[in-house]
Amino acid sequence: MSTEVVRHFDRIADRWQAKYFPSGSMGHRLARFTGSVGEVLPRGAQLLDYGCGTGDISFALGDFGYRVLGVDRASKMIEAAQIRSQRQDVRFERVRCSDDEVASQFGRNRFDGVVLSSVLEYVQVPAVLLRQLNEVCRDGAWLFATAPNTRHPCRWAEALVARVDRRIHPDGSRLSPYREYLRVSTTRYGLMKWCSVLRESGWHVEQIVGRYAALSMLIAKRLGGVPGSCYGQFSK
Ligand SMILES: C[S@@+](CC[C@H](N)C(=O)[O-])C[C@H]1O[C@@H](n2cnc3c(N)ncnc32)[C@H](O)[C@@H]1O
Repeated sequence: MSTEVVRHFDRIADRWQAKYFPSGSMGHRLARFTGSVGEVLPRGAQLLDYGCGTGDISFALGDFGYRVLGVDRASKMIEAAQIRSQRQDVRFERVRCSDDEVASQFGRNRFDGVVLSSVLEYVQVPAVLLRQLNEVCRDGAWLFATAPNTRHPCRWAEALVARVDRRIHPDGSRLSPYREYLRVSTTRYGLMKWCSVLRESGWHVEQIVGRYAALSMLIAKRLGGVPGSCYGQFSK
């Protein structure tokens, strides 16, 4: 994770939780994740919420009966989550290692599922992180990841604004949070590419939710050495 990404999220950490207030723009994500996880994993399963931000999705999953470890590299995000956490079933820890050492920090064969809510688009080489997340999981574990859908017109507009913005402010100065977001959120893969990157990293995509939405969710199962193709298995 680049220092620009950490700086960006540290800068906006005090405003992040408000996105989950009833009037906020991200409250719908709570039901999206609890619903998807609840379809395949029993209560009591151990989840890793990777890039948990201020922990809102971790808490929602905890309320559903899951045991959750929320982790994030931005210290101000994780501090905000830790301040809110009074419970044993939802805990938080800062990521102190690089993306290729995650299994060493969090341990192998430990989790039944991994949640990545709007994280992969900030990761320069997602395959490296996804492989590590495969290692921290047990056999039969599930992964739930949202990613910007490059087919959606709002993503084309974002790409255009980002390109123009780079021309106007090549040094990145005087950026609003939105323009800073465009500057740091740079990994944009199509859904097919996500399927193949996940597969290379030991995950088989079972379902894509929101194939035409601005933000799609990929639901994948940890491969147990059985080869297969994800193509043609889309739904909803
Ligand atoms: C857009 S925010 C999403 C936060 C939370 N998942 C949510 O949906 O509310 C992305 C988060 O991922 C974290 N992040 C991005 N890349 C990361 C990486 N390589 N390792 C750990 N955390 C990362 C950022 O610090 C930030 O808190």
